[in-house]
Amino acid sequence: MPMKKTRPLLPRSLDATILGIFNEVRSNQTGEIATYIPELARANPESFGLCLAMADGELYRAGESSLPFTIQSISKPFVYAMALQQFGHEEVRRCVGVEPSGEAFNSISLEPVSGRPLNPMINAGSIAISSMIYKGFGEDSLRSLLDFIGNFTGREMMVDQKVFESERDTGHRNRAIAHLLRNFGILGDPVEKGLELYFQQCSILVTAEDLAMMGATLANRGVNPRTGKQAISLGLVDDMLSVMATCGMYDCAGEWLYDVGLPAKSGVSGGILAVLPGRMGIGVYSPRLDSHGNSVRGSLVCKRLSEQFRLHLFSSSRPCRSVIRRRHTLRDRKSMRARSMREAAILKRLGHSALLFELQGDVQFTGMEAVQREVAEASESATHVVLDFTRVDSMDHVAVGGLVNLVLSLLEHGVHVAISGAVHVRLRELPLPIGTGPVAYFDDLPSALEACEESLISGNLMRETHVASGPAAHEPLELTQWINETEFAALQKYMVRRRFLAGEQICVKGEAANDIFFLERGMVSARIPLPDGAWKLLARLGSGTVFGEMAVIDRGVRSSDIWAETDASCLTLSLEMYDEMTHTNPVLKTRILEYLLVVLTARLRGANDQIATLMV
Ligand code: DON
Repeated sequence: MPMKKTRPLLPRSLDATILGIFNEVRSNQTGEIATYIPELARANPESFGLCLAMADGELYRAGESSLPFTIQSISKPFVYAMALQQFGHEEVRRCVGVEPSGEAFNSISLEPVSGRPLNPMINAGSIAISSMIYKGFGEDSLRSLLDFIGNFTGREMMVDQKVFESERDTGHRNRAIAHLLRNFGILGDPVEKGLELYFQQCSILVTAEDLAMMGATLANRGVNPRTGKQAISLGLVDDMLSVMATCGMYDCAGEWLYDVGLPAKSGVSGGILAVLPGRMGIGVYSPRLDSHGNSVRGSLVCKRLSEQFRLHLFSSSRPCRSVIRRRHTLRDRKSMRARSMREAAILKRLGHSALLFELQGDVQFTGMEAVQREVAEASESATHVVLDFTRVDSMDHVAVGGLVNLVLSLLEHGVHVAISGAVHVRLRELPLPIGTGPVAYFDDLPSALEACEESLISGNLMRETHVASGPAAHEPLELTQWINETEFAALQKYMVRRRFLAGEQICVKGEAANDIFFLERGMVSARIPLPDGAWKLLARLGSGTVFGEMAVIDRGVRSSDIWAETDASCLTLSLEMYDEMTHTNPVLKTRILEYLLVVLTARLRGANDQIATLMV
């Protein structure tokens, strides 16, 4: 059967690889359909459906992936989770253990004295759990259970009445197990009610796609990636996957973990659900079973997928991305602020003592351990550390605790700390002396770098509300270092003073460039407007610097918008006046040209450095 196409442009080779594995496994016709439940004997032995669901909800299907069948024992980890959610770990553990039995699903694996079933994946354990659910939910049990499982599949669930009745009418062994449990006081009266719920849970209709989505929901921290609904809390996902890994495949659990390496659960109707934690779910249906009661093709397809895509949980070949994406000093990684030569010289001298660590990905214990070690080692002689979280997707509470310890120990050693770009990890709420000590928080990396540079230049603390509200120090015009007072006085005759209010636009990208601006006071920014109405910051310039200088060289149009960030005052030299100086004061004109070329060269070198840094 051909793959169902759901995407216009997708890795065709991936579809083809999955289909290749599917077709290869389909040729296997060994195994027997379960017949001990009469209704199951009616299944078509040739049926075969496969679905892979990524943790973001993307599906890859092959064969009869939407053919319904009864969930059978695959319901067990879900009913177990529902009980844990409702009654808590202690109460559930009192009733059922978590020890693999190494025996068949219908074995009477009870602890010798207490009669407690060894785990919730064997029938005895699951019947005990269903009885607990019935005790808690009464006549609402089935509805609640269907809703619970429906949160994983993302659709409404229903019971196959015929299979339920068939199982209820013939399930003498399960009835015997239930009464044995009653004898030990593991479950109470009425025995038949819990048992009935057990038969109903086994008869819920699912498809291979449903199983894959249930797996993807477990892989996606308990959140159904399609509906966005939290089906279960994260802690309970861990519990489910643990019992699936150790007990999910019964007397072949060890072999399964060895060969396939994924937590999984099988059912006698021929379904298997497997999960690669954090990554994906696999759902497969094929009713012919092996001697353990597991789908032959289902097991094979999982094994082949695991080999092909290196899914084994313990595969040490799975690459682990370092949490530290890049590491720089502020000598080689600069902010967007165009610096005067005096400031640039200070940053060149002191920049090596300010370190930037750009972090990435999902940060947990091991990632944060590496960060703590590397940052602490590198910071021995540092005065400033910037920790950038812009590319961090998530942090668990262990990593957050590690970060707090790291920052506190940096502070203890007198290091100024800036934390940037961590909006979604809510680092502002950390128990850190933010705002009161030498630790500051910034929405983005350029702001943190700029504040860090300011701190290096001024020798003061980093300020969170950095220079947007005005430059830290008022710099004299840099130009005055190139020309003497008499020349400056002469030049002023050619210039006009213009004042701008904060928020006022000074230059418009693409318009003719007629003036050079010497910024006496205030802060301006150069921005590129983006098609969606937003803009990208190119540079920020403080007092003392010059802008609009490129026009002198190429007589072109403005290459960016320029906005006043604060009230600003500029001495402007029109190109007309500048040209007139050719006749009236050629020496002064040459001095100015020299200065502008030095500024341009410094900016070009800075841009080259930034490009080189970003290409590493
Ligand atoms: O208890 C039974 O017989 C079935 N309703 C469920 C058993 C099952 O699916 C075992 N798993 N492989």
